[in-house]
Amino acid sequence: MLKIAPSILSADFSNLGQDVEKVENAGCDYLHIDVMDGRFVPNISIGPVVVKSLREKSKLTFDVHLMIIEPEKYINQFVEAGADLITVQVETCPHLDRTIHQIKEAGAMACVALNPSTPLSALDYVLTELDMVLIMTVNPGFGGQAFIPAMIPKVKDLSERIQRVKSKTLIQVDGGINTSNIGMVAKAGAQVFVAGSAIFNHENPVIAIKELKDAAVL
Ligand code: DX5
Ligand code: ZN
Repeated sequence: MLKIAPSILSADFSNLGQDVEKVENAGCDYLHIDVMDGRFVPNISIGPVVVKSLREKSKLTFDVHLMIIEPEKYINQFVEAGADLITVQVETCPHLDRTIHQIKEAGAMACVALNPSTPLSALDYVLTELDMVLIMTVNPGFGGQAFIPAMIPKVKDLSERIQRVKSKTLIQVDGGINTSNIGMVAKAGAQVFVAGSAIFNHENPVIAIKELKDAAVL
């Protein structure tokens, strides 16, 4: 049941369609699309126009990670462009319960991301509403950063909380995931693994995905 979600942030943007086709043919289920605004994170990436044009070429589950302030202003646009799942950063949502309902009413699955220093208690009272929780394993903003090991006990703690409330909420991890740490994170309870540089900086993304899947179950 472990799933790999390639992050297009590390893809070749001049050949984005081809890069997406490669990972789709490699048997991925999700495509992780990082949206950055230069405000919440110190980097700018892409918007709904790119999601819409990829939607015409791909059947993957589009997992749109909004690293932007005031995400409620853009959620509906991203769903209309083709997002299947929307992730908001908890740090950007003073009305988190309302934002989660907005995502669902727009017709997408709802996920909330936590920065490394944000405690799990930020999800008290909304956990059972969520399709997925994203534990950031780097500080968001850039691809290619080093995995933060302190996130392993955080994933384990979240997994125990989800089991305690008998919820089906999935755990996703994002940042610095590679063949040397994916096994430990899987063991801690993560089920969906975002990987950008480990896939797109590899000479063969198809092999990279297979190696990640193999390393996750070792
Ligand atoms: C970081 C992004 C990640 C990033 C992952 O802010 O949210 O999705 O693209 O890239 P790697 O796997 O290279 O850390
Ligand atoms: Zn991401």
